[in-house]
Amino acid sequence: MVNLQKFGVCRCTPCRSAPASRASKSSHLRPTRRVTVSVRCVSSSPAADTAYTTKVSRNANIAKLQAGYLFPEIARRRTAHLLKHPGAKIISLGIGDTTEPIPEVITNAMAERAHALSTVDGYSGYGAEQGEKKLRAAIAATYYADSGIEETDIFVSDGAKCDISRLQVLFGSSVKIAVQDPSYPAYVDSSVIMGQTDLYQQDVQKYGNIEYMRCSPENGFFPDLSSVPRTDIIFFCSPNNPTGAAASREQLTQLVKFAKNNGSIIVYDSAYAMYISDDSPKSIFEIPGAKEVAIETASFSKYAGFTGVRLGWTVIPKELLFSDGHPVAKDFNRIVCTSFNGASTISQAGGLGCLSPEGLKAMQDVVGFYKENTDIIVETFTSLGYNVYGAKNAPYVWVHFPGRNSWDVFAEILEKAHVVTTPGSGFGPGGEGFVRISAFGHRENIIEAARRLKELYK
Ligand SMILES: Cc1ncc(COP(=O)(O)O)c(C=O)c1O
Repeated sequence: MVNLQKFGVCRCTPCRSAPASRASKSSHLRPTRRVTVSVRCVSSSPAADTAYTTKVSRNANIAKLQAGYLFPEIARRRTAHLLKHPGAKIISLGIGDTTEPIPEVITNAMAERAHALSTVDGYSGYGAEQGEKKLRAAIAATYYADSGIEETDIFVSDGAKCDISRLQVLFGSSVKIAVQDPSYPAYVDSSVIMGQTDLYQQDVQKYGNIEYMRCSPENGFFPDLSSVPRTDIIFFCSPNNPTGAAASREQLTQLVKFAKNNGSIIVYDSAYAMYISDDSPKSIFEIPGAKEVAIETASFSKYAGFTGVRLGWTVIPKELLFSDGHPVAKDFNRIVCTSFNGASTISQAGGLGCLSPEGLKAMQDVVGFYKENTDIIVETFTSLGYNVYGAKNAPYVWVHFPGRNSWDVFAEILEKAHVVTTPGSGFGPGGEGFVRISAFGHRENIIEAARRLKELYK
């Protein structure tokens, strides 16, 4: 029996024999050797079985959260499916994780930096919490050249999701937020954790004290702002996850005007901007006046396959002020310096590789590959007679199953086609009746998934 915990691998539920990889000391030079070991369950008992409890109360805000975060819940169901059908060749078009290798021009930049760390001259320890000057400048020049955003407005980070939570710490517990419905779950869940919300209301499937701005085919996936009450913060994601809809210049102009009239701050998530194929703005800062009302968060995750490498950035223009005139960026800087010690130097070297002329071309190729996958998925569902949305400007296809429960459709596709999708209702009540299909996948898997889906719904 081998205790896998000492290798940092826990596969112990339930107790069973399992293949495990053990990296040798020089595993960076040789392929990982796979060995079969017998595993004994060594995990600690669940809390319910433990007699001893501390005297620390559970954070009541976390207790408000519903079930698990959406994607771990999907992973749990996938694992359960695999236990039931051990031989099934599951294709995952659910979680939205990238699958294609990082272009070499980018990994070379990281490798070079990693090797330099082994030299006296090339070694560096803690860097600037806000990120390397050169990378901040390259981000400003590449993505914000015409909008007056400067290097000093940019905070480099370990990814957009982490920044969303840091922004919530910045705003504190007394603000009220608005979200698109449906939306990426991190906005709502981080709001709950911060204590900005009331309890979850099962009947409407919403948390109290959050404004859910319905985005549906009927309104072109852009909320009717004339019926949205004022909130302090407006989370807005374009191109949107999960609907794939990108807001037009005219719509974003309306949004900026709405924020300005209400004295609100927009947190604009542009994690999929490079997927835009039409003339929709790639940044909120393309809209005049946005610098006084908006923050933008972005990421290399879906452009360069950096979901594991981790690198993103957040833009807080110096023009953005709190009601007392204090610059928002100054407070964010304080949070970053307190809770974050800067993105990994190796990731930042990768970021510079991404923004070199060859890196930009390589990222465009990666994005182009996933967009071809998107076309295959769109063709699959349209040929079956389904209405599909998104896709054009995003790596997500939003498929309508009118009158059906999203989790039921998710379960049906998993059970009968062994394909993992994401139930639309996991993104908010406005997602009920829809399923999100991610275009991140190896081509052969996308083609095979398309074949199985055609077979299932013919
Ligand atoms: C809309 C949106 N924002 C942010 C993220 C997270 O990005 P990162 O990997 O940079 O944390 C995701 C990831 O799926 C996303 O869909």
